[in-house]
Amino acid sequence: MRNLFEIDAWKIIEQKFDLSKQKQAESIFSIGNGAFGQRANFEEYYSGDSLQGSYVGGVYYPDKTRVGWWKNGYPEYFAKVLNACNWIGINIEIDGELMDLNVQKPSTFYRELDMQTGVLTRRFKVKFAQGKELQVESIRFCSMDDDELAAIQYTVTPLNFSGYIKFTPYLDGKVYNHDSNYDEFFWEEDSHKVDIQKAYLCARTKKTNFSVATAMRFSFWRNEELLNIHPNISSSDFYVENNFEHFVEQGNAYTLKKYVSIVSTVHHSEFSVIPRSINKVREAYVSGFNSLLDAHKTAWKNIWSKADIVIEGDVAAQQGIRFNIFQLYQTYTGKHAQLNIGPKGFTGEKYGGATYWDTEAYCLPFYLKTAEPAVAKQLLVYRYNQLDRAIENAEKLGFKNGAALYPMVTMNGEECHNEWEITFEEIHRNGAIAFGIYNYVRHTGDSDYLKDKGRKVLNGIARFWTQRFNWSKDKKQYVMLGVTGPNEYENNINNNWYTNYIAKWCLEYALKCESEFASETNPLLSEKECVDWKHIAENVYFPKLEGTRIFLQQDGFMDKEQLSVADIPVSERPINQHWSWDRILRSIFIKQADVLQGLYLFKDHFDLETLRENFDFYEPKTVHESSLSPCVHVVIAAAIGRMDKAYELYLRTSRLDLDDYNHEADEGLHITSMAGTWLSLVEGLAGVRIGEDGLTINPSIPEAWKQYHFEILYKNQPLRIEVNQHGGTIENLGSSELSLILKNQAYAVSSMEKITF
Ligand code: BGC
Repeated sequence: MRNLFEIDAWKIIEQKFDLSKQKQAESIFSIGNGAFGQRANFEEYYSGDSLQGSYVGGVYYPDKTRVGWWKNGYPEYFAKVLNACNWIGINIEIDGELMDLNVQKPSTFYRELDMQTGVLTRRFKVKFAQGKELQVESIRFCSMDDDELAAIQYTVTPLNFSGYIKFTPYLDGKVYNHDSNYDEFFWEEDSHKVDIQKAYLCARTKKTNFSVATAMRFSFWRNEELLNIHPNISSSDFYVENNFEHFVEQGNAYTLKKYVSIVSTVHHSEFSVIPRSINKVREAYVSGFNSLLDAHKTAWKNIWSKADIVIEGDVAAQQGIRFNIFQLYQTYTGKHAQLNIGPKGFTGEKYGGATYWDTEAYCLPFYLKTAEPAVAKQLLVYRYNQLDRAIENAEKLGFKNGAALYPMVTMNGEECHNEWEITFEEIHRNGAIAFGIYNYVRHTGDSDYLKDKGRKVLNGIARFWTQRFNWSKDKKQYVMLGVTGPNEYENNINNNWYTNYIAKWCLEYALKCESEFASETNPLLSEKECVDWKHIAENVYFPKLEGTRIFLQQDGFMDKEQLSVADIPVSERPINQHWSWDRILRSIFIKQADVLQGLYLFKDHFDLETLRENFDFYEPKTVHESSLSPCVHVVIAAAIGRMDKAYELYLRTSRLDLDDYNHEADEGLHITSMAGTWLSLVEGLAGVRIGEDGLTINPSIPEAWKQYHFEILYKNQPLRIEVNQHGGTIENLGSSELSLILKNQAYAVSSMEKITF
């Protein structure tokens, strides 16, 4: 696979201006701070092919559903994260000619995203029509320290002339979503104001009424000297600018420092967003670029001190894993319970920036092991706060008595996905949300959350399952009909093994939690409910291939033509771009881990032989056409000792976007599957799993690597794990003793003790 950009342990580097790569680069060089983010668009005007994108977490629009055949129960809309005010704009003009890299192609070009510090830098040289040549450098960041602030330092140096340059810092709110269903403009203007010192623009979303105030303030410097500038002001609907012409002298550096604040009603009252945004830019201006940058770098340093993974001996793998960790923290930091993790984060519009089951199934373990428990807890609180909506959602479909069906896709708790086979049938998402609670408790040991809040979510979900199963007189067992499993290349199937399994587990877990807390708190379940749920859980039907340990993905799976992926001509892959949907649905081919997803989550329930047989059965049938798939296969392959396969699939996931394997990085990055890459390394290659026996570690290392090490948090204690070609060490960096099982042997590791294997 060709690398798109240079290989470097901490940086993404582009050395040459290549028009054909610009949209991919805009995604890959994206920056964000968990509260807002943006694609790596240029500050100055650019007339080439570009996806201009700035997104503010939690600000969405209910775009009216567009669907051919309306089904009762469909939501009215698909929520979309909104492309918001373009705050980076700084135009440069000489002799009436706008700087535009699509016109004056740069003679040198360098772009760098430093993942260690979260800083995006660009340097280039351009020649204007009359031969005037400029050296330009821009440095910008979205502050990790204060997630309502961003800053840009934009420096131009005239190389072969002295003369006038016009500078225009501006805010432009007239931005459209590229994927709007009816080409609507989603914003209304609240107000705007510009004076010679500052400007703001406050826009309000139609229908949802979110107000977002974006404010800017700038300073102008000649080398190290602050200049006194009296800019012109100009404004129109959704637009404010300052502009000034300045006489620049050859060889001197002129720097415009632009401070921006973005404040929204997701976190503040309607009346406070404008004054707050103005105060924030004033404070930023007073602090100055370097001090904001220092605070931003310190915040990143703190993140990396817990979350970094160091790989020695393979720089491409090192860059890949850091890129994934970096993008995950740019997308979600756990500071706000209103926010979640969109599959594309702040790097594009696909999937609407909304919350999917991806959060609990893939991302939660990442935050649980790399940050304090409070970060992951916010993700649970997000679902808890939406429990009433999940109950309403289930009621709309005919369920009762507090049964909760969490949406497949949501912004505010309401379902906003509208393909019946997913909206109504891909109900396994409820299971992942319950599993997330269990995962949180076993990682952190915090059962208070479970007692007060988690239990209510579990009970709502369990009530849904009890009503969704039905008793089959024929089988004399409970069956679940008409579902879609994680493998979306099959719809409306009966008895999806994964869904039945996770549903049964949910009932058992909800009952266990109830019995644990019933004596301390008011019981939440009636005796009858407990008896009924137990009866269902004990009598669920599971399809199996007789005489083997293989769990069948669903009823009738063996009636399909038994082919393997090797039988598909390369020219027909990916099948979703070459085959009719009808052909895909009837085929044996699996989009993403399904039965294996269950074996991954419930690893303690199955022996290695069962894992092996199922892996050998399903892996050859899986086309991995969801980026969420390979990671699960890596973890299982590593557990059963198939290291070559584990490493092959690991490579595929770790540089998926960096090398643009799927030819779609231009529309945004696969943020949630980046958590999957992390899982493949930590839970797969390093074999760090938390299960019913507590923490188990079974490390392995690819031949190509010399050594790798990282830290995890377990029960709030940091543990350092280092693996090399001969063994490695486990070091307890916490203050209490930690029990773990390393390569099937139990250890009690005292505080600051290091064990060698
Ligand atoms: C996958 C889903 C996933 C969604 C968003 C789909 O392609 O099949 O499992 O939730 O993408 O990442």
